[in-house]
Amino acid sequence: MTVLIINYLYHALFEQPHRGGSISNIYSQMPQSSIISKVDFDKIRKDFPVLDQKVNGHPLVYLDNGASSQMPAKVADRLDHYHRYEHANVHRGIHTLSQKATDAYEETRRKIRGFINSRYNEEIVYTTGTTDSINLVANSFGSLHFKEGDEIILSQMEHHANIVPWQMIAEKTGAVIRVIPVLDNGELDMEAYKSLLSKKTKMVAVIHVSNALGTVNPVKEITALAHEFGAAVLIDGAQSVPHQPVDVQDIDCDFYAFSAHKMCGPTGFGILYGKKEHLDQMPPYRGGGDMIDKVSFEETTYNVAPLRFEAGTPPIAAGIGTAAAVDYLTQIGMKNIAEHEQELVQYGYEQLKKIEGLRFIGEPEHRASVLSFVFDEIHASDIGTLLDKRGIAVRTGHHCAQPILRRFDVPATTRASLSFYNTREDIDRLVDGIEYAKSFFEF
Ligand code: ALA
Repeated sequence: MTVLIINYLYHALFEQPHRGGSISNIYSQMPQSSIISKVDFDKIRKDFPVLDQKVNGHPLVYLDNGASSQMPAKVADRLDHYHRYEHANVHRGIHTLSQKATDAYEETRRKIRGFINSRYNEEIVYTTGTTDSINLVANSFGSLHFKEGDEIILSQMEHHANIVPWQMIAEKTGAVIRVIPVLDNGELDMEAYKSLLSKKTKMVAVIHVSNALGTVNPVKEITALAHEFGAAVLIDGAQSVPHQPVDVQDIDCDFYAFSAHKMCGPTGFGILYGKKEHLDQMPPYRGGGDMIDKVSFEETTYNVAPLRFEAGTPPIAAGIGTAAAVDYLTQIGMKNIAEHEQELVQYGYEQLKKIEGLRFIGEPEHRASVLSFVFDEIHASDIGTLLDKRGIAVRTGHHCAQPILRRFDVPATTRASLSFYNTREDIDRLVDGIEYAKSFFEF
C-alpha cells in the first residue's frame, strides 16, 4: 500500500523537465480563448465582493495589498466547494475522496510550475508562506553547507523574514552575516555588493521587490554575480510574484519564496521553489507523517523531495484555492497586470508628490506597487487612523523591515500598496484623505 501510494505520487509529481523559455512563451502556448486580450480592469474589480462595501460610511479603498491581497469570488467559491464536497486528507487514503483531494492538491504543484516556469514539478515545495519557505532553506541548506567563517549576504532592505532565520542559523553554524547597503534613492548599492562577494560567500538572500520601499531589485544580475563565487541565491518574491511575470529559470536563482495570500489566494499557504539539485541533497527541516520512507526506532529513512519537506497534514484547502488563484491571475495575464500597475503606481507617485510636506522614502528608478511616505510633523499612525475614518486602508509602521527604516532615519512610514484592482479614483481618494488628515495638524 505504501509502495502504491509512493508510486502514485511519483507519477503525479515527476514529469519531463520544462526548459528555458519565458513566461510570455508559456502564455503563447495557452489556448487564446483562455487569455483576456484587452483587459477591462474596471470590470475585474467587480470580481472582488469585499471591495463593494462601506467602511466608516465611505466606500472602501483598499491599499494594503502588500500585507495581504483580496480574494476574487472564483477563488472563494473554489474553497467553498472543496470544503462542502471534496474534503479528505491527501497522500494517505485509498478511498476515492482522498484520491480526488490528492489530485486537486497536486494539481497546484503543476500550476505553480508553469506560473513561475520552473523545470520540474518536484522543484515546487509547499510551505505555509514566504517566512516558512525561508526558514526551510536557512535550516536545511544552512545546516548542510554553512560552517564557521562562511558568509551570508543579505541587504539592508530585507523583510525580517529574510533576516532573522539567517541570524539563527548563523549563530548555530558560526557563519557571518554581511549586509549590502542601500543608496539614498532606495536602490541597492551594487558596487558595495560586488565588493562583499568572495569565496567565503555561501548564500545571497535578497528581496525581489521591497515591501517597505517598492524598489525592484536586479535579481538576475545579483544571482549571476553570486554564482561567479559559487554562492547560492535565495530571492524573497512575496511582493513580486503578485505584480509581474516571474521566470525562475531566467533569473537562475537557487531558491525563490512567495505566499499565496498576497496573490489573490488563501492565507496559510506558500511556495518554495528550489533547484532540484539542491532539494535532492537537503535534509528534512521538520519531521512527521508524509515526509518519511520507513520508520523504526532504530532508523528512519526519508521521502523524496519535495515530500521530504512537507511533514504532517498540509493546508489542503489553501493549496487547492491557490491553484484557482493562479488560474485567475493567468487568465488576466501577469504582463497585463504589471503594465496596469506600473501606470497606476506612476500616477500615484505624481499625485502624492504634489502634497505639501509629503516626503517619499525611496525614489528608485524601478518601483512596483508600493508608495511609502512620511510627513516630518505628523506620525504615520495618525495619518493611517485618519485615512481609515475615510474608508481608506493603508499600512503604517515599520513594515517588518526595521533596518531599512533606520537607514532612512524614520520610525515609521505610511504605505499605500496597490493591486491590479485598484483604480485612479482610489489614488484620488487617497490624496483627498491625506489632505483631510493634514487638516488636523498645523505646520
Ligand atoms: N510582509 C507584509 C507587509 O509588508 C505583511 O505588509
